[in-house]
Amino acid sequence: MAETEENPFLKSFEDPEAVANYHSGPTLFVPGFHDLHLMTSLLLAERVPADGRILVLGAGGGLELKALAQAQPEWTFEGVDPAGEMLSLARTTLGENADRVHLVKGYIDDASEGPFDGAVCLLTLHFLKSDERRRTLREIRDRLKPGAPFVAAHSCLPADPDERALWLDRYAAFARAAGAPAEMVERAKDGVSKMDTLYSDYEDLSLISKAGFSDVTLFYAALTWRGWVGLA
Ligand SMILES: C[S@@+](CC[C@H](N)C(=O)[O-])C[C@H]1O[C@@H](n2cnc3c(N)ncnc32)[C@H](O)[C@@H]1O
Repeated sequence: MAETEENPFLKSFEDPEAVANYHSGPTLFVPGFHDLHLMTSLLLAERVPADGRILVLGAGGGLELKALAQAQPEWTFEGVDPAGEMLSLARTTLGENADRVHLVKGYIDDASEGPFDGAVCLLTLHFLKSDERRRTLREIRDRLKPGAPFVAAHSCLPADPDERALWLDRYAAFARAAGAPAEMVERAKDGVSKMDTLYSDYEDLSLISKAGFSDVTLFYAALTWRGWVGLA
């Protein structure tokens, strides 16, 4: 995909060395990362039956798959991701829960038709330009049962350059305070500052709604990160 050439983050998901260190990243850069998983499982569980099947898009690394599988021992999952290295890490991460997860290498179009009882897309949609993000969201919705919950969370930035710079400083300050090495923080901040796919949280809420989800609500706001829940 063209985006892989443009975005160094996307390239890193295919780099064995970077992927080997992937798990340390989100907790250093995403405030409340583990609680985000806990909240995701609770929001899904409001409507997903005990034996529900969940679609996880951008499932590489397997961290949310593992958290959801541990929270709900009868749920089964389809985890979709274009990066083979990240899928391998997901398989390892899942350990004994791997037999409840079908991993698919590819994009949303490669996912089963479902219909699924719920869907999740964490730390992923911010890599997609608005047209592709809207299309992907619509494809997710089309794979859900009517009324099934969808949880998304990713990074947002305001459009105003001064505000953007302030929030990028805060993004970096959190990572430094959480213990990320200075060089790692600078590299990440530089990478994020060059991304042209980070929109305001209002735009994201609008994209999710326009893709056909109803009752879209912000449930998580942590510096540059936002999370929404909506219904198919
Ligand atoms: C930052 S990682 C997040 C992984 C995991 N969701 C987590 O929270 O730890 C982003 C993942 O999205 C995947 N990805 C990139 N573009 C994608 C797309 N268009 N559809 C699905 N996944 C994508 C990458 O390969 C990578 O594994």
